[in-house]
Amino acid sequence: MALTFPLHSNPSPATDDDVARVLADPGFGDHFTDHMVVATWTHDGGWGDALVKPYGPIQLDPASAVLHYAQEIFEGLKAYRHADGSIHLFRPEANARRFQASAARMMLPKLDVDDFVTAVAELVKADARWVPGSEGERSLYLRPFMFASEVFLGVRAAQTVTFAVIASPAGPYFPGGVKPVDIWVTDTWARAGVGGTGAAKCGGNYAASLIAQYEGYEHGCSQVLFIEAADKDRVEELGGMNVFLVTADGRLVTPALTGTILEGITRDSILTVAADLGLTPEERRVTPEELFGGIADGTTVEAFSCGTAAVVTPIGGFKSADGEWRLPENGSPRTLAIRNGILDIQYGRVPDTRGWLRRVL
Ligand code: PLP
Ligand code: COI
Repeated sequence: MALTFPLHSNPSPATDDDVARVLADPGFGDHFTDHMVVATWTHDGGWGDALVKPYGPIQLDPASAVLHYAQEIFEGLKAYRHADGSIHLFRPEANARRFQASAARMMLPKLDVDDFVTAVAELVKADARWVPGSEGERSLYLRPFMFASEVFLGVRAAQTVTFAVIASPAGPYFPGGVKPVDIWVTDTWARAGVGGTGAAKCGGNYAASLIAQYEGYEHGCSQVLFIEAADKDRVEELGGMNVFLVTADGRLVTPALTGTILEGITRDSILTVAADLGLTPEERRVTPEELFGGIADGTTVEAFSCGTAAVVTPIGGFKSADGEWRLPENGSPRTLAIRNGILDIQYGRVPDTRGWLRRVL
């Protein structure tokens, strides 16, 4: 039976002035809205106790399994306000399906696609005044997550699980906005391997990527590009984004989905609209030699990272222990065309011919 999420309104919500102040300069991940979604699953009873309630701390017993064995998954999607004031989600069913796939990998329970979308939509409705306008590429970032809340220290799939959704007004993920970012390439550290959890959106993948990210910061880079862990013969993805290369002859190249990288919804959307922009999409193996050699010999003229948080951000260059490869300073015209093509759909500035938007309000 479909879940409903009755609203228990926050008795002391933020003032309109507070909201206006946050929306004027939201940053990323710093501010949270008045409400949150919570639901509980038990092995014997399934999903229940679903509601939208005042945002606040979740009380956890110190023996809650997630704190010990990291049985946890999450999602990230955004609500966009269009010029007419209406509010829309972008492909939320795709996030819901990926949440199911992540749950299956981490032995967490299945949440129906409709329940996931309803939960997110009900939170957006309750906190609609927190959805910024489109200027400065602002939106309401939504973070559904699920974790093992059972109080038990044995290692097995938890029999009590909590699902929650929180919301955070967001501006650009990188403080520089669309300024090109530099990427550190590591083959010292891996984030995932064949048979591992790379294709699941689970917190542990991000914990595993931090050491490389900090190595990248030391070299002036904002993100890390990971190489396949065992054979080191293919480029995979960044710690929190997928990666694309643009060739001089108009090919749009991205590493194929091999089970070790996250199946990005932005990635899929870009591959789908590429032809409209005169680009030929190619999903295939990209070797480190091709990546570096292509930049050195001028075959690769642009590169960019993409994801819900990052949208589409140009890459200025790649650095590794062996050297540095700079992309031409050409203003990244094709990257910006892709970026604007995706943003125009999300903000309703062009017709939604693929049925990607779900109107919430
Ligand atoms: N890869 C990783 C590791 C991510 O964390 C993300 C962000 O969610 C992506 C790729 C891009 O996925 P999406 O476009 O669905 O946000
Ligand atoms: C997202 O884009 O939603 C992510 O989860 C990436 C994270 C780096 C914020």
